[in-house]
Amino acid sequence: MDVISTIKKGVAKAMEMQYQTQIDSDTVMVNNTKKEFDGDYTVVVFPFTKAAKKGPEQIGQELGQFLKDNVAEVSDFNVIKGFLNLELAESYWLQFLEQLNDLKDYGRGTSNGKKVMVEFSSPNTNKPLHLGHIRNILLGWSCYKILDAAGYEVLTTQIVNDRGLHICKSMVAYQSYGEGETPESSGIKGDHLVGKYYIKFSSIEKEQIAALKAEGKDKEEAAILKEAREMLLKWEANDPEVKALWKLMNGWVLGGFETTYKKLGVSFDKNYFESETYLLGKEFVMKGLDKGVFYKKEDNSVAVDLEDVKLDHKTLLRGDGTSLYVTQDMGTANQRFEDYGVDKMVYVVGDEQIYHFKVLFEILKRLEQPYANDLYHLAYGMVDLPSGKMKSREGTVVDADELIAEVINEAKKNAEEKGGLEDFDQDQKNEVYRKIGLAALKYFILKVNPQKRMLFDPKESVDLQGDTGPYIQNAFVRISSVVKKAGTFNASSAKEYKTMEPSEKELAFLLSEYPGIIQTAAQNYDPSAVASYCFELAKTFHRFYHDVQIMRADSEAAKAFRILLAGNVAKVLGSGMDLLGIQMPERM
Ligand code: ARG
Repeated sequence: MDVISTIKKGVAKAMEMQYQTQIDSDTVMVNNTKKEFDGDYTVVVFPFTKAAKKGPEQIGQELGQFLKDNVAEVSDFNVIKGFLNLELAESYWLQFLEQLNDLKDYGRGTSNGKKVMVEFSSPNTNKPLHLGHIRNILLGWSCYKILDAAGYEVLTTQIVNDRGLHICKSMVAYQSYGEGETPESSGIKGDHLVGKYYIKFSSIEKEQIAALKAEGKDKEEAAILKEAREMLLKWEANDPEVKALWKLMNGWVLGGFETTYKKLGVSFDKNYFESETYLLGKEFVMKGLDKGVFYKKEDNSVAVDLEDVKLDHKTLLRGDGTSLYVTQDMGTANQRFEDYGVDKMVYVVGDEQIYHFKVLFEILKRLEQPYANDLYHLAYGMVDLPSGKMKSREGTVVDADELIAEVINEAKKNAEEKGGLEDFDQDQKNEVYRKIGLAALKYFILKVNPQKRMLFDPKESVDLQGDTGPYIQNAFVRISSVVKKAGTFNASSAKEYKTMEPSEKELAFLLSEYPGIIQTAAQNYDPSAVASYCFELAKTFHRFYHDVQIMRADSEAAKAFRILLAGNVAKVLGSGMDLLGIQMPERM
């Protein structure tokens, strides 16, 4: 049993013994004691005043004394303004740390028997991934890791939006201007090559519109847009030539995405393709019509009335029978359930689609889908860059591959300046730079609460000082070198260590919080909780390292204790950063 439950049970027992009051121990509020007070955990006493018919100060004193006398883990207490601060016994922390030495998977929750699917990235196949996708991908991957650690069975997935007008735009431009260019012939990564023709489409369209305007034909569509529309119709009619071009170009894009995913260290258990699921949505709409959940309009289109939940009327099928974005999502959700029997689905998608997911979830509820009450849209805010940096031709999009290369390069510059890897060969060095650069990028983005809009500063992210990934890696590397230098030491003598230093206690306390941090992060779908925990742990380790002697400790016992403690910190840092998708270097 963890110590917080022990305290809660102790409080319930005290209430019964001292005030003849039965309370559910789960309702007892126990928090971490605030930094400015003495103690480890704080019991909120106010809720007991009614039953005990006494003031909070007095109840605090009486409960504190009871716990001190009857709960072995509690060694002392103080009461401040009706809050009961408890100090845990040294022996408790020592025992806790000793147990930690043998735990490999410390922090992981036991299986809860629930299956969850996490969708992230979900790109369109007409252009390369950008900075927004990076935030999306990192959040999705970390959520998968955190939910997995919390005890869920997790599957990762994406919906590849690979059909529709926007896809045909790159295709028509390529058809007219591509001259048979391929990724191989041009040396351009597949997704970038297709993206080039998407941009080409835009510029031709602009020219044509300007020309039309000059002729006074303001209302008319650009010829190239008409071509794209015709192409979409042909695609839907299975025109072999159009389908072949579509297959070819989609293949290039998907190959390019795969390379970027590899660089970021993410993968998917299952890919869904809109080209395969968009028809499923239509069947689903028919079911809803039969059930009376949807209604047919005069123009033959199908809609749902969501006015009672303030979501308007939403069209699900156009009059001509073609489906919409939401239609496809209905079909895909259902398919995922049929394929895997998931209990829960998480969608990592930008906050500009909040309305879309509200509508989708509401529809699935009305269709009484078994998973409909456990759907979550993990909406995230925009990422900006410091002005003047890496703006692309259109001025808005920052390419994912370029950004990854940039952070790795920044890490390299810093590391070369700092020195210390001279005995490494070039491959080993590059591997270190890669790990630092990616840690910088991932940590900087994940430390921000998903809902918040944020600024990504590549230079600041690689800084070895401050709230950065490399700072935490540095703590880890320092520990590795301490442990390595220690060589063989008498681990069992650590048992003789009895009086802990304040920074040692702080580390022990932080380590004890890790399992709870994972659960909280999972409940809130919030990797930033794990990030700030890792930062706190690394900071506290640096303080410990500064405050106490390890190799030149006063006793063999102290030395062994500290090496083991440091090792446990490294273990938890490594595990916590892994939940953010971050790898640790051996050296840096
Ligand atoms: N491809 C879409 C876009 O780029 C995002 C898809 C999000 N996922 C979903 N199930 N609708 O906007």
